[in-house]
Formats: sequence, C-alpha cells, structure tokens
Amino acid sequence: MFKRLEEARRQAQAAPVRVIINGAAQECRQGDTVAAALFAAGVSACRDTAVREVPRGPYCMMGVCYDCLVTIDGQANQQGCMTLVREGMNIERQAGARKVQA
Ligand code: FES
Repeated sequence: MFKRLEEARRQAQAAPVRVIINGAAQECRQGDTVAAALFAAGVSACRDTAVREVPRGPYCMMGVCYDCLVTIDGQANQQGCMTLVREGMNIERQAGARKVQA
C-alpha cells in the first residue's frame, strides 16, 4: 500500500533509529516520521477518539487531518506525520481526550 521514496531508501543505508512503540522496541529509518514508523511496524491505529473511543490512524500524512495524534515521551497530541523519529523516542497510542493542565 505504501512505497518509500528514493531519498528514504538512501537514508535507510544510515544507522537505524531505535524507538519504543506501544511498549515494544522497534527499529526505524532515519528521516522517517512517527506516522511512517507506525505503518512500517504494522501499527495502523495510533489513537482512539475522545468521545466514542473509535480507533484512528494517520490519513493525510501532511499535517491536515490530525488523525495521527500520538503520545510521544509522555506528551499527548503530537502529530505523528509531522514529527521525525529520534533515538529513544517513546511512542504510545493516545486514548481518548488528553488531560488538560491548569
Ligand atoms: S496524518 Fe493527517 S495530520 Fe497527520
């Protein structure tokens, strides 16, 4: 379904980036977005909606739909398609509405 661009193939020659996705260790390619890393890991749903808790996954891959929201390093509402993976990143599925801090 998804195909890597030529530039991404070249970046694949570089050392992998190790992240944690929903508690499991995963190697990603440098230059991948979090959303791409999720797809590469076989994870299609990255959050559950706030009201009905329906699973959602990255859709537009260009920062428009906000269906790719994930929790990264404990910070909720991060756009997976607009965030590049980095070594040691902890990516978690976002469940429901995030907590609002006063
Ligand atoms: S996939 Fe649409 S905003 Fe990220």
